Amino acid sequence: MAALAKDAVIGVIGAGVMGAGIAQVAAAAGHPVLLLDAQPEAIARARADVEKDLQSRVGKGRLAAEEARATLARLQPADWDDLGRCALVVEAIAEDLEAKRTLVARLQQGVGRHCIIATNTSSLSVTAIAAGSHHPERVVGMHFFNPPTRMKLVEVISGVDTSAEAARTVFDTAEAWGKKAATARSTPGFIVNRIARPFYGEAWRVLAESAASPATLDAIVRDCGGFPMGPFELMDLIGHDVNFKVTQSVFEATFGDRRYTPSLAQQELVRAGRLGRKSGRGIYDFRDGAARSQPTVEAGSDPVRRVVAVGSLGIATPIITRLEQAGIDVVRVQGTGAAATAGWLEIGGARLMLTDGRPATRRAAEEGHEHLVLFDLALDYAATPRLGLAPADQCGPAALRTVCATLAKGGFACSPMDDVAGLIVLRIIAMLVNEAADAVAYGICTADAIDDAMRYGVNYPRGPMAWAESVGLDFFARVLANLREHYGGERYRTSVLIQRRGWTRSGFRE
Ligand SMILES: NC(=O)c1ccc[n+]([C@@H]2O[C@H](COP(=O)([O-])OP(=O)(O)OC[C@H]3O[C@@H](n4cnc5c(N)ncnc54)[C@H](O)[C@@H]3O)[C@@H](O)[C@H]2O)c1
Repeated sequence: MAALAKDAVIGVIGAGVMGAGIAQVAAAAGHPVLLLDAQPEAIARARADVEKDLQSRVGKGRLAAEEARATLARLQPADWDDLGRCALVVEAIAEDLEAKRTLVARLQQGVGRHCIIATNTSSLSVTAIAAGSHHPERVVGMHFFNPPTRMKLVEVISGVDTSAEAARTVFDTAEAWGKKAATARSTPGFIVNRIARPFYGEAWRVLAESAASPATLDAIVRDCGGFPMGPFELMDLIGHDVNFKVTQSVFEATFGDRRYTPSLAQQELVRAGRLGRKSGRGIYDFRDGAARSQPTVEAGSDPVRRVVAVGSLGIATPIITRLEQAGIDVVRVQGTGAAATAGWLEIGGARLMLTDGRPATRRAAEEGHEHLVLFDLALDYAATPRLGLAPADQCGPAALRTVCATLAKGGFACSPMDDVAGLIVLRIIAMLVNEAADAVAYGICTADAIDDAMRYGVNYPRGPMAWAESVGLDFFARVLANLREHYGGERYRTSVLIQRRGWTRSGFRE
């Protein structure tokens, strides 16, 4: 199956924020595009918006003026009667199931036999939208992200009755339009909005435990996790009303799966009208003159000149290299038992180890070492400018200060948190991996589709499956078991695929 030919006519119904962008993408790819809206003035507004965007690209030298003119000329207002010429109609009307069902049924009476009807719904069931129409096999989800002209990902969603042929055509067409397409079955949140839930949910839980300030948590997630934004600053940008609604809809659509439990604190923010940037206040204060919140950094004191590395630090080994490059003498001692694979650094009287999902206080008691400090997971220990740390309650303040001052020599800004299980980056990544493994286990999408969706849809630096493969499923299985033991309940239950330690990258149960 191939993408639709360039001269195939594309219809776009609903000329709002999304419809205008989708129409622009299709027209830029060379298609004649017919634009319809219940409100005629919406079409003129959409065309003006498209023209403005094209002009700005021309102004920046990214688009030839002739190309811009041709793209705009291909985008025409239309009537219902014109739709018979379309090979694909994308609907981007209001997010209302009944309105979309009525529209699809009406469209199928006017379009040709082979026309595919795509819905840009972000939260409704594609199966439900298609149900009751004459040809549910030709109804497909084509979920663009906002703004469609700039966001690379398109989720291609199959309802129960969607034909493989229709889904394939939409997939290939999206790719021909310069997008990265990822396929999934119709399921609450599709790929991105479902897999991303722990990014917000775990951050709220860690904040609820008063482990650190939002600015500190954001800085650790950004600097250590490599995410473009921390969870709180991102929610302030998205809007807490929108973000809360998505979480709530996934929670309700999964019959109250505890894993997606919305945050009470976020609900309170919404009730207070603190919606984020758009209302001037959310987690942070954006009003004129408001001070910008800064992450906590412990500069420490009394750095040591000699550190003992016991066993292997595994993925965190570059910490040793950075300390050595800073002129610190690192003495390596072979570890036995657990230390062989999960070693530590002796810094002064303190022991510094990677978190495994157990709180430092408990681990200090179990390992019989009171001055224990855990550090958080990082995307790249050779480059991270920061480390999140959690000292055990038994750890003396002087021991922590020595650890921080010594790490500072290696270029690590140390941001201590209260002792919370799994700190913040590991906690988020472990739950993203868990969520992703479940999506594959339930046949929602492939491992490849998940990594593509998260990298291109929300700019994650590394997809959850790639995280699992680089750090190892044994580690994540242990972390999730530790979190479950610590918190109880079903939130941290381990996906069957993590228990079975694997998946195939492109295996897809259709
Ligand atoms: N805004 C986003 O960030 C975003 C992202 C992804 C998907 N979506 C989805 O895209 C769809 C559109 O969202 P939007 O933000 O562009 O909305 P919008 O309100 O900006 O635009 C909707 C347009 O549809 C028109 N319309 C409504 N009912 C109609 C009907 N029955 N027939 C013809 N036209 C009709 C309205 O006049 C309006 O111009 C929704 O399903 C939404 O969930 C939105």
